[in-house]
Amino acid sequence: MMYRLLVTGGAGFVGSNFTRSWLRDYPRDKVIVLDALTYAGNMENLASVLQNPNFSFVRGDIRNVDIIKRILIEESIDIVVNFASESHVDRSILRPQAFIESNIIGVFTLLESIRQCWSRPFGERRLIQASTAEVYGSLKPNSPPFTEASPYKPNSPYAASKAAGDHLAFSYCRTYGLPVILTNCSSSYGPYQFPEKLIPLAIINALEQKPIPVYGNGKNIRDWIYVEDYYRGLKKVIEHGAVGETYNMGGNCQKNNIDVVKMICDYIDEFKSLRDDKSSHNLITFVEDRPGHDFRHCMNTAKTKWDLGWMPIEIFETGLYKTIKWYLQNQDWLQRVRSGNYRIYYQEQYGKRLIGKDNIE
Ligand code: DAU
Repeated sequence: MMYRLLVTGGAGFVGSNFTRSWLRDYPRDKVIVLDALTYAGNMENLASVLQNPNFSFVRGDIRNVDIIKRILIEESIDIVVNFASESHVDRSILRPQAFIESNIIGVFTLLESIRQCWSRPFGERRLIQASTAEVYGSLKPNSPPFTEASPYKPNSPYAASKAAGDHLAFSYCRTYGLPVILTNCSSSYGPYQFPEKLIPLAIINALEQKPIPVYGNGKNIRDWIYVEDYYRGLKKVIEHGAVGETYNMGGNCQKNNIDVVKMICDYIDEFKSLRDDKSSHNLITFVEDRPGHDFRHCMNTAKTKWDLGWMPIEIFETGLYKTIKWYLQNQDWLQRVRSGNYRIYYQEQYGKRLIGKDNIE
């Protein structure tokens, strides 16, 4: 079966990885990326596919019904994968509005456009709504991991906006029969991730010998998944997932933040042959916590494993090693994405948190 895919938000971290990997694995499929190219979307992330005749790019917003309908019809799209999302928890705390716009109104617009363009029988057509572990809220240290049946208890404006988008998507499935499948994934990492998230931020700050901000006591736990494993899971969902179902994905890799940051410091010290007095560990700085900070995320991925035959395969040590190597080799990319706007955000998020801090630990 050959597919024609619309990948919304395909110039971001997860979306561009999906696009590059899909065209690598299925060179005869057609992939159209729709991306508004806001701060985290970047054409450089798609550089390796720009000359591919089966790839095309449309700059636009998922809140634009006309653009989406035009692409759906003119390109005879079978599969829509929706990555278009504001995705950073801290930004949602500073400025929630954009999250409501993209993650709720955007999903609504996408659903309406699809409803108007696709008619029964839907056959192989699918809308994959890429969502997040954050919608389930926070786990206690010994609670069992989130399953697909866990209740939605979002804590941040980001998580609440994603939860609303998910509910809308399934409402269109139940009410209008749209062939929607939902995926909920834990914290992903890898090359091309925008340096506002913990792992790339810690890598860069360590490389530049700047304080590495760790929220609270650093004991919060995330379940880290390498971005290529996430892609492999999405591929299984597209090919074998059942309409109306949710599939959890996670890395089977729970780590607390301070251990992740220490591992990054170890690698950077090794890469740069730093000695004890210059060690990156001296840069670790505990700062004021994220308000409403989820203590722990952890995904039970048994359903995705048994129903779709998927498991994460990258171990954290090698995934992190590859990621750090990529950032070391792509310093130009890093400099370019950290434009004026990034500096403004960084100052707003960390300026007060880092004032007068000793580099303890
Ligand atoms: O669980 C899935 C979610 O994972 C995705 O939906 C989000 O888009 C993605 O950003 C990620 O959310 P997190 O909040 O887990 O990612 P983040 O990298 O922002 O933070 C990871 C942990 O590190 C979290 O406990 C907060 C902490 N942290 C983060 C930053 C940016 C710090 O201690 N210091 C920091 O400077």
